Amino acid sequence: MLRLEDINTYYGDSHILKGVSFEIKRGELVTLLGRNGAGKSTTLKSIMGIVPPAKGTISFDGYDVSGQKPHRIASLGMGYVPEERAIFPSLSVSENLKLPMSRSGVGLWPLEKIFSYFPVLERRRHHKGSQLSGGEQQMLAIARILIMRVKIILLDEPTEGLAPMLVREIAQILKETKKTGITMLLVEQNTRFAVEIANRHNILHEGKIAYQGDNDEFKADEETQRKYLAV
Ligand SMILES: Nc1ncnc2c1ncn2[C@@H]1O[C@H](COP(=O)(O)OP(=O)(O)OP(=O)(O)O)[C@@H](O)[C@H]1O
Ligand SMILES: [Mg+2]
Repeated sequence: MLRLEDINTYYGDSHILKGVSFEIKRGELVTLLGRNGAGKSTTLKSIMGIVPPAKGTISFDGYDVSGQKPHRIASLGMGYVPEERAIFPSLSVSENLKLPMSRSGVGLWPLEKIFSYFPVLERRRHHKGSQLSGGEQQMLAIARILIMRVKIILLDEPTEGLAPMLVREIAQILKETKKTGITMLLVEQNTRFAVEIANRHNILHEGKIAYQGDNDEFKADEETQRKYLAV
């Protein structure tokens, strides 16, 4: 579904991603873990074409998307939930969910379907975005992408700053979402959360992939976790 080969990305003269390669198969939930500044968000922005790589190729669902513009990549069915949770604070939950545009040839999910995954959003449907808690805002940000029937969703630290109870709730929602067959790339620093829901893991360290392994292997590998992650 998604393959990165030898991705090199710069901000000006700073060489941030130094040959990143990994792939995700259809229906998998794969993580990109790593410490602050490792280059996780830059990887997602490179995939989306927001910070285009200087070198390397990205293929998505049979298309070479390297060098394409973000709106074109999004229109192929790639959904992105950035760290900043882009929702509209002055619009209601329902209005936020009606804003996404349908991609050509595919309609939006009906609101009822979204509400069946996110009952909290149904209860809050008339509240403004700004009146939601951090966890509810994260749910709304994810729901706004899912409603477009994307093929893959890129999530940048969805649990950041959330209380443990809400982290569990987000885990539950992502597990349910995965059952619809959607493919997910999850950027995380919360290892506990990541091992609860992921099939496989990639660790990014100083702009390079330092570890790749399946969930059981990673869970048992405390040395790798200590070496590359904040535990
Ligand atoms: N717009 C930018 N201009 C210049 N340097 C940047 C820019 N954005 C990020 N960087 C630098 O690139 C490196 C990687 O940043 P990135 O945001 O990808 O890390 P991250 O792994 O997502 O970290 P975090 O866990 O803190 O979100 C860091 O050294 C950061 O300072
Ligand atoms: Mg980041």
